[in-house]
Amino acid sequence: MVTRTQDRASNHSNNSSNNSHNGGSSGDHRGAFSWGENAGPLLGAALAGAAIGFAANYGRKALMQGMEAMTGQWDEILAAEHDMALAIFDKMLATDHSQTFKRKMLLMKLTHALDKHAHQEEMVVYPALRKANEAADADHLEGEHGYIKTFIYELNGMGADSPDWLDAVSEFRALVHEHAHMEEEQVFPHFKQGLSEEQNAKVTSLVNRDGFWMA
Ligand SMILES: [Fe+2]
Ligand SMILES: [Fe+2]
Repeated sequence: MVTRTQDRASNHSNNSSNNSHNGGSSGDHRGAFSWGENAGPLLGAALAGAAIGFAANYGRKALMQGMEAMTGQWDEILAAEHDMALAIFDKMLATDHSQTFKRKMLLMKLTHALDKHAHQEEMVVYPALRKANEAADADHLEGEHGYIKTFIYELNGMGADSPDWLDAVSEFRALVHEHAHMEEEQVFPHFKQGLSEEQNAKVTSLVNRDGFWMA
């Protein structure tokens, strides 16, 4: 079975924007909170560094949020994330045992993508499903998330050059594909139909908010 947009190219760019600015902190303040002769300049530099880090991170998150907000309703956001994860799997499956660095990088990227995605579903969509008397589906899907994490655990414990690596990734992909298919074709459409436009908008807003914190 092939999901609708499974073959969509993944052009997820790591857009770590550098639109932060230096606060231009000077270290010459000596007041009641001075921690010693040379603490001022050091503290100033540390605070400036923290500000740059915060601004860069905030800029990245704002960008991610903006991108997600443009992608549509909650079910479309989650379906696009399924496609993105499946595209990472395909890149993993195209590697050979000598490409250990690439395998490790792709596994990290996949772990982050699935972690963020699971957070959105487990904190918003599955609780909403339970409240709508669809607890059996929510519990089944959340149980599968546990097995998805188990694959990540297994791959982290396995050398990236292991002869079993590709088989494990292939099995892992099949589970995610089947799980995504059940969500996209069965559970989500049924649930969405039963919600008012306003309720759907609320779920979309919550999914965006939780995705923002995990970006
Ligand atoms: Fe899920
Ligand atoms: Fe999902």
